[in-house]
Amino acid sequence: MPIILAIESSCDETSAAVCADGKILSNVTATQKVHEQYGGVVPELASRAHMQHIVPVVDVAIKNAGITLKDLNAIAFTQSPGLIGALLVGTQFAKSLSLALNIPLIAVHHMQAHVLANLIEDPKPSFPFLCLTVSGGHTQIVLCESPLEMKVIGQTIDDAAGEAFDKTAKMLGLPYPGGPLVDKYAREGNPLAFKFPEPSIAGLDFSFSGLKTSILYFLQNAGKSNVYKESAIATPEEVTAFTNERMADISASVQQRIISILLNKLKQASVQTGIKDVCIAGGVSANSGLRKAIQEMGEAQGWRVFIPKFEYCTDNAAMIAITGYYKFLEGRFTDLGVSPTARAEW
Ligand code: KG4
Ligand code: ZN
Repeated sequence: MPIILAIESSCDETSAAVCADGKILSNVTATQKVHEQYGGVVPELASRAHMQHIVPVVDVAIKNAGITLKDLNAIAFTQSPGLIGALLVGTQFAKSLSLALNIPLIAVHHMQAHVLANLIEDPKPSFPFLCLTVSGGHTQIVLCESPLEMKVIGQTIDDAAGEAFDKTAKMLGLPYPGGPLVDKYAREGNPLAFKFPEPSIAGLDFSFSGLKTSILYFLQNAGKSNVYKESAIATPEEVTAFTNERMADISASVQQRIISILLNKLKQASVQTGIKDVCIAGGVSANSGLRKAIQEMGEAQGWRVFIPKFEYCTDNAAMIAITGYYKFLEGRFTDLGVSPTARAEW
């Protein structure tokens, strides 16, 4: 019964979790507030905040699990992809602790871990399953054959779905990270109030940059057009008044377009592969509109739909722990020479 400590530090959450035989005993996350004032994650500040948070976060995770460091059998950590300085803090911490306790190290791929968040709790999907992984930096359809065998069968060719939410929020004057705020306003709005374009991209790939441009022109024109027209450009006062007045309807209309772009490709992937166990993962899977829409599509398509608990959707160490557990079972350890990498292939 392996007991594994896991550490996640790829972006702006410092998280530690403990799992025993694949069951999560604790999952503690410190979210970095320092970035809000800059409208996005500042990498250097993220690294410094990870250094401040990592010891107390690990300490609480160990205590909440009701164990001591001596009980640990391995340490798993996010090795890639992510912000290099941020990854370095978690990697060095994991390496030091593994050396001090003389226990093995397990390097984890952050996006693989998002997918495996679906294996934390029952009911679990059966293999093979499809996972729509939607985060701040990635948008992928992953075909998962077994816990450690996955391939990306579709992905974004430009912005990620989370970026589409965050950039929309920024254009609406909302603070970072704007995704959850767009979600909140969308609940009060009419998704049919405004029409934004759905791109026609070949195969299972996604694109969000055209949507972003159309939202920009739409706002600059105070809702009169989403095509660039010099003559129709509204005054800054008109733009602010329009945005504030129609915040809920704009949020709902943009959100519903992002969701339809995502789910239409997921439906196509299910038809192509014949796979009907379908999951979502990543920060954007916390979106209430997406959670509802995938359930509805699932009922219409005869899918079994799996959605991780809210705390396992955004960045967390529990998903690193569960991935570490499957790697432990196969003896896939790494040595102390390991370094983090900002970008990673599957
Ligand atoms: O997976 P994640 O926590 O970090 C990355 O690995 O990127 O995803 C963060 C992204 C951000 O873009 C954030 O705005 C988005 O997930 N997000 C949401 C919601 N909660 C988080 N987007 C839409 N609706 C939400 N409720
Ligand atoms: Zn993530």
